[in-house]
Amino acid sequence: MNEQNRDRALLNRINAYSLEDEAYWSFRGRSKRQHCHGLLQYPAMMIPEMQGELIDAVLAEDRNVRRVLDPFVGSGTTLGEAMCRGLDFLGIDINPLAILACEVKSGPLYTAKLQEKADLVLDAAKKDSSAEIAVHFDGIDKWFTKSTQVELSAIYRAIKNEPSKWARKVFWLSLSSTVRTVCNSRSSTYKLHIKTEEKIKQTPSAIEEFEKKLNKNIENIVAQKEILDKNQVLKRATSVSDVVIKNADSAGKIRSSLKCDLLVSSPPYGDNQTTVTYGQFSYLPLMWIDLSDIENMTQAGLLAHKSAIDSMSLGGSKKGSNTKYQEIKERSRSLVSCVEKIKAVNPENIKKLISFIYDLDNAICNSLSFLRENAYMVWTLGNRRISDIEVPLDSIMRELLESRGCHFVHKLERDIPSKRMANRNQIAATMVKESILIMRK
Ligand SMILES: C[S@@+](CC[C@H](N)C(=O)[O-])C[C@H]1O[C@@H](n2cnc3c(N)ncnc32)[C@H](O)[C@@H]1O
Repeated sequence: MNEQNRDRALLNRINAYSLEDEAYWSFRGRSKRQHCHGLLQYPAMMIPEMQGELIDAVLAEDRNVRRVLDPFVGSGTTLGEAMCRGLDFLGIDINPLAILACEVKSGPLYTAKLQEKADLVLDAAKKDSSAEIAVHFDGIDKWFTKSTQVELSAIYRAIKNEPSKWARKVFWLSLSSTVRTVCNSRSSTYKLHIKTEEKIKQTPSAIEEFEKKLNKNIENIVAQKEILDKNQVLKRATSVSDVVIKNADSAGKIRSSLKCDLLVSSPPYGDNQTTVTYGQFSYLPLMWIDLSDIENMTQAGLLAHKSAIDSMSLGGSKKGSNTKYQEIKERSRSLVSCVEKIKAVNPENIKKLISFIYDLDNAICNSLSFLRENAYMVWTLGNRRISDIEVPLDSIMRELLESRGCHFVHKLERDIPSKRMANRNQIAATMVKESILIMRK
């Protein structure tokens, strides 16, 4: 089959779902974050079932898919779905918390041993009577009450005493969710924002929360193992997939000789500071994790302050936005038209947009270099608003990809499930739809 016919077959296959049910891709009531997808609550996660079905549609038309790429891997939704299908994987993210989640997802899945070790770690944390605080960072007394610091320190020491790194990683991930629950920052926003005195007084016990989260994570890992086993992609408690996870800036220089056959990814909607602050969301949890246990942590300076990850993410720097615009504007008419509209309302606001698109374009360039010829790409995109003007990220992305020789295959639109974002995130309030852009290299 030639490439155009294959594109048409893929388009028909995807359209067939929506012919039966117009709202098919909204996945309303059909999506649950089960097994490995329940290990971490991360902002703006993709719908696993949807990405899984899109991967299946591509696999049905392209028999040569072996390795999947996600250059903005986040909590690893694409990774989990790739592993369920026995596919190899390359994932990249700037955020160390995302890397930890992906390392846990990729296994090994020694479930019986994990349960034994979890009992020991919980026992040690409960018996620890030391009042010594195990970690130190600016603002610790603002973000944690003294009694919470004491409990988190007991858990920290118990985890450090566990000899196996694979088990420590599961424990660190469970501790990271615990920290989000017991810190003095509000859970209704991803930005660090102090709770009321009243709410702080209601902070639950860190050890009790940790126990709950750890037990839930063990259940999720047991369920993941059962699925991999059922799908015959498990070999002695390890998935057959070769998984490579890199802590890197997708827009920067990345060394890898791996070639991928399919890209499935969702980049941020815009710069982190004004859209979703993944970095601030992760900052306090990362303060309570021994980062030397994260295998692939290579980016320096990420935890220098609470906004460091966000300012090192796509669009984090406004510097040189004029020059950047000159370099990129010929390649996207939609970008130019959007910049003109925003400029007429608030010229200052175009700098962040230009810097974000410029960085995104560099990330596209890198991603294409990891893909083999004719590989399909499934990009999940949200069109945010700046100065109340919609930024058509889907059209901009299509034009940038076409300017690099890629072919448009299809675009789907779907409603965004309401629970995907913290309810006080302003971006969530203005974005109700997202697009799935399917392109071919
Ligand atoms: C929409 S989220 C991805 C969520 C993921 N699909 C999931 O289901 O969990 C976007 C991700 O891009 C990452 N990111 C932002 N800028 C980046 C950069 N320059 N390089 C690599 N990752 C970056 C963020 O840390 C975040 O994890």
